Amino acid sequence: MLQIDNLRKTFDGSRSERRSRVLAVDDLSLTAEEGQMFTLLGPSGCGKTTTLRCIAGLEHPDRGDITVGDRTLFSDERGIRLAANERGLGMVFQSYAIWPHMNVFKNAALPLEVLPRSRRLSKKEITARVERVLSVVQLDKLMDRPATNLSGGQQQRLALARALVMEPPLLLLDEPLSNLDAKLREEMRFELKRLQRELNITAVYVTHDQVEALAMSNKIAVMREGRIEQVGRPREIYERPSSRFVADFIGTSNFIDGTVESHETGDLYLVDTPHGKIRATSAADLPAGEKVAVSIRPEYVEVEKGAVPASDAVGRWSGVVETRAFLGESVDHVIRVGELEMRARCHPSLSFPPDTEVTITLQEKMCSLIPTDE
Ligand SMILES: Nc1ncnc2c1ncn2[C@@H]1O[C@H](COP(=O)(O)OP(=O)(O)O)[C@@H](O)[C@H]1O
Ligand SMILES: [Mg+2]
Repeated sequence: MLQIDNLRKTFDGSRSERRSRVLAVDDLSLTAEEGQMFTLLGPSGCGKTTTLRCIAGLEHPDRGDITVGDRTLFSDERGIRLAANERGLGMVFQSYAIWPHMNVFKNAALPLEVLPRSRRLSKKEITARVERVLSVVQLDKLMDRPATNLSGGQQQRLALARALVMEPPLLLLDEPLSNLDAKLREEMRFELKRLQRELNITAVYVTHDQVEALAMSNKIAVMREGRIEQVGRPREIYERPSSRFVADFIGTSNFIDGTVESHETGDLYLVDTPHGKIRATSAADLPAGEKVAVSIRPEYVEVEKGAVPASDAVGRWSGVVETRAFLGESVDHVIRVGELEMRARCHPSLSFPPDTEVTITLQEKMCSLIPTDE
């Protein structure tokens, strides 16, 4: 549906930096399938907005190709560059501007009313479309209300309605929820996801919030310094981060340095670490002796009372509880294993006071290998 190949965008560096160019998007390629919510996730300044603006036609890329369906929107090689208003894409930005002197209906209708004469719809058609889209975002009861008398969440839905009324093949969303307060943001997450699924919209969603990305996306591309570091389904990104950057950025993780001892069956490896042996998975082909880090999330570190019996298995280590913190839905423990501090997130029914001797079990399927050369 959306295909981007080798997109590159640089900006003039500021005078004080005395740098020639800022590399905002660096050889980025991606494919979003029809009906997908495809999310660009990454820290501030990694190039998310610039990528979105290139798709929208608001920035002129240095090179690359951008195609939506069978229409090429931009290609430096083929000399194609459609203007933003010829691309027909829907856009919702963080600072969604609604028109204060118009009511809800007028706000949603405006994009249709300003179409060139050749493409303009009849008044009846406009009314039908606007009513339909307002009912989708559940603002149909408020059609006559001045737009300024809407709550933050309602204004956000109006901005969405205005983007949807054009029935765009692709919707571009740049941190559309970041101006809302925490509770509303969470509600809108579900609402936006529901709308996107119900209307089978293909969307590119930009956010720096990993929880939002995990909750809303079919696919996530984690970006770093203008490049895509990893693409995958939310669960893949979370459970199988391919680099330390991704593992760190998407929540907390334990990292255990070690060396590959042998490749067992499938994607399973036996890894030797200073704290004992452990099994972990990797899709990559790693030779024995390769230095790696094993990454495991705190919620997959199982904790039981008492030290490991002498004859025990791989992936089970003795440790001592250092601290714990009650977090309501869970109890976080810091457990010392030799030189290593492991974080374990337990169900609130399991809580071990400091100095308790415990056994931790690292589930092999939840341990992923990541390269250490970065
Ligand atoms: N108009 C601009 N002029 C100069 N530099 C820019 C401009 N827009 C973005 N940049 C730079 O490009 C990089 C990526 O920015 P941006 O795409 O806005 O990141 P994000 O949306 O991920 O926070 C940053 O280093 C930013 O300072
Ligand atoms: Mg941005």
